[in-house]
Amino acid sequence: MQKFIIEGGAAIDGDVVISGAKNAVLPLQAATLLATTPMTIRNVPRLKDVSTLAKVIEGMGVTVTFDDENNIYTDTSTIEHFKAPYELVRTMRASILVLGPMVARFGEAEVSLPGGCAIGTRPVNLHITGLEAMGATVVVEDGYIRATADRLQGAHIVMEMVSVTGTENLLMAAVLAEGTTIIENAAREPEVTDLAHCLIEMGAKITGVGTDKLVIEGVEDLVGVDYTVLPDRIETGTFLAAAAISGGRVKTLNAAPDTLDAVLAKFREAGAKVTLGDDWIELDMRGRKLKAVDIRTDPYPAFPTDMQAQFMTMNAYSTGIGVVVETIFENRMMHVAELMRLGANIRLEGNTAIVAGMPELRGAPVMATDLRASASLILAGLVAKGMTTVDRIYHTDRGYERIEEKLVALGAKIERVG
Ligand code: EPZ
Repeated sequence: MQKFIIEGGAAIDGDVVISGAKNAVLPLQAATLLATTPMTIRNVPRLKDVSTLAKVIEGMGVTVTFDDENNIYTDTSTIEHFKAPYELVRTMRASILVLGPMVARFGEAEVSLPGGCAIGTRPVNLHITGLEAMGATVVVEDGYIRATADRLQGAHIVMEMVSVTGTENLLMAAVLAEGTTIIENAAREPEVTDLAHCLIEMGAKITGVGTDKLVIEGVEDLVGVDYTVLPDRIETGTFLAAAAISGGRVKTLNAAPDTLDAVLAKFREAGAKVTLGDDWIELDMRGRKLKAVDIRTDPYPAFPTDMQAQFMTMNAYSTGIGVVVETIFENRMMHVAELMRLGANIRLEGNTAIVAGMPELRGAPVMATDLRASASLILAGLVAKGMTTVDRIYHTDRGYERIEEKLVALGAKIERVG
């Protein structure tokens, strides 16, 4: 199993090019199933999750081609069946995103129940009840969701909870449904907005984009387009955190500053100097003291749960006390025990962590438990005295493209072994 070995003490300094957003490209890959003509997606990050979803879609008979410039070409005219198998879906639960488009376009879908993951049980009840509201017949048996519909009908759906992929699945179902669909309490994450923009370019009729109320007029069919994925705001935030914690400076290029307001406010509160351009963000922490900040995760535009672990690490190596509250997932604090092995002083009470900043962390072997936890351990390794080994970094590769290469280019001492 591969590991990262990190020698602490180097201050991050330099520019880094941000990749396309993992959580935007996955729904866009699913949206290609709606297109009657070939489609191109550009600025695709080379990630395990992306290739897994490509395998799910290819497995149905769709032609999926990656070129060596981070682009994907798909052609659904060769599709043969509508099944997303357990052996692939269990490794990448966002494969559930093929459900909505397949029922919408082909009237049928058989998708393995994704199962949970380390951070939570990750139910998909909202995806299913929304499709049923649109007239689909959904049977869940033998670990599979089997959905059929002659033609989905427009419905008025009020989402019980804000769900990012739940909103995306139902949006992709509604664009080909007969009549009008209203999705209230819709997720407003930038990745949902990016999907809506792509669907509109494909011929969909959607209003309320970026708000919590989406109104969709169903159309007869959608065509393939050439679409560029928006920058990954969580990768951006992770590199900004690397500069903040190490007392360095980083300029993130090809970024989307307007998708990170809540996060940038917290970096400034933590004492960082943050400057913005149209497509870049610079964070300078040189000669500045990192202050602990209180974090509470909530749906967009509030502070994102995917940046919680990274700020937990910053708090652990800061001055003061920061309280971190995780409200989205029931089990997204597993990095706490690993950070404590590096000397972090954290008291955990349910989904609330009280973090007392320490002047020093000390390197040790630690284990990644999930994607963003792995990022938080890498950040800790950048400043911990001595050597830190991060194991199970297959988690990291799911969501960060070549992270160690990008960090080495910024002056970090990190290498992948095994
Ligand atoms: C998306 O997951 C992201 N993944 C996650 O990113 C992100 O953490 C999450 O949104 C929250 O922002 C992708 O976009 C591929 P949810 P998703 O449905 O859609 C509950 C990362 O690190 N819920 O918004 O699966 C659910 O249990 C990953 O990049 C139901 O109860 O999350 C959770 O408590 C991790 N029933 C809450 O809603 C449902 O049917 C929010 O989940 C659906 C969700």
